Amino acid sequence: MADVLTGLVYHPRMPRRRDLGIGIVGAGGIVNYAHLPAYRKAGFRVVGITDRVREKAEKTARDHNIPRVYESLDELLRDPEVAIVDIAVYPWEQVRIVESAAAARKHMLCQKPLADRYADAVRIVGMAREAGVKLAVNQQMRWDAGIRCAKLLIERGWLGSPTYATIQGHYLTDWSLWPWIYQGRRIEILYHSVHYIDSLRYLFGEPQWVFSSGSRAPNEATEGETKTVTIWEFPSGLQVLIDVNHTMWADDRYAIYRFEGTEGVIKGTIGLLYNYPTGRPDTLEFTSKRYYPQYWFSARLETMWIPDAFIGPMASLMCAIEEGAEPETSGEDNLKTLQIVFAAYRSMVEKRAVCPAEITE
Ligand SMILES: NC(=O)c1ccc[n+]([C@@H]2O[C@H](COP(=O)([O-])OP(=O)(O)OC[C@H]3O[C@@H](n4cnc5c(N)ncnc54)[C@H](O)[C@@H]3O)[C@@H](O)[C@H]2O)c1
Repeated sequence: MADVLTGLVYHPRMPRRRDLGIGIVGAGGIVNYAHLPAYRKAGFRVVGITDRVREKAEKTARDHNIPRVYESLDELLRDPEVAIVDIAVYPWEQVRIVESAAAARKHMLCQKPLADRYADAVRIVGMAREAGVKLAVNQQMRWDAGIRCAKLLIERGWLGSPTYATIQGHYLTDWSLWPWIYQGRRIEILYHSVHYIDSLRYLFGEPQWVFSSGSRAPNEATEGETKTVTIWEFPSGLQVLIDVNHTMWADDRYAIYRFEGTEGVIKGTIGLLYNYPTGRPDTLEFTSKRYYPQYWFSARLETMWIPDAFIGPMASLMCAIEEGAEPETSGEDNLKTLQIVFAAYRSMVEKRAVCPAEITE
């Protein structure tokens, strides 16, 4: 039996030079438990960090052996050693930082969501374009092992024509990691399902229609949505279902993906969501009509979403700088992810299917 799963190289393509200087803005949770461990593993060079709370930058610098703590964003931007500004602050702060970084002609890796308003995301992309710098968005789920392997299998034709795709996660999210998200009016899709939306676009392209329902559990202390069910429709007949519930109290939590096609089925689990942020490796199984009797191939995936997948967007940005190309998760590309995000919110309010192209400035 041919080994379908050999040669599935799911590790990110790396730049020739790994020593472009990275300057980090924001010394919060995600930088400490994901960005910095990933960059250490990849051999990337972080030259300095700043945070509006200086003690946080100092502690992060001590913990991760970062040589410089900058007093301000301006000081970071004046450092000629900084080629890439790695921004990891709240989305509404991102636009102002991008404005300064673009004026200083620095390349940028922005955090997701690129902005909490579509018009700001468009502005961000425009500022980078006009400054002639590269801008990538940290939609690193595309480099999560299960998603990347599924992409390779789909590209090799094992699924045939895709007919159905789903990502479903029912778990209990600890919002104390992100009190500022939980206090907001938009929660689940803007901050969490944005990863699923971006990954599903990466695998299957652009939907024609988006319908979404958002809700929360009784007595939740937030105005935002913590449970969503979203359906996409494609002209080909492909249907996508994203079903996420952050309020699942029972101990049988799950985070699964399943992609069905005319020729094959790919299914698996998203390891990170079983114990965030420690997680476990993803699983992936695959079957094809080409094998009879039917057999489920099983991949052994060794890397983790955190930290490994966080190498991907930075590596892709560095490759783009080297090659004069665009990063995989460029700002331009991310506008399409955000159109679906905001189409889902419009759909929730207006109780109708929304075409992503309706979302304009
Ligand atoms: N890609 C992912 O999977 C992922 C996961 C978690 C969080 N995030 C994103 O990362 C960003 C940060 O999240 P977090 O969990 O680290 O939050 P956090 O609250 O732990 O950290 C944010 C840090 O940014 C600093 N900060 C805020 N505004 C600043 C400014 N203008 N200049 C300098 N420093 C500033 C704060 O002082 C704080 O230290 C958010 O946009 C969030 O959506 C992404």
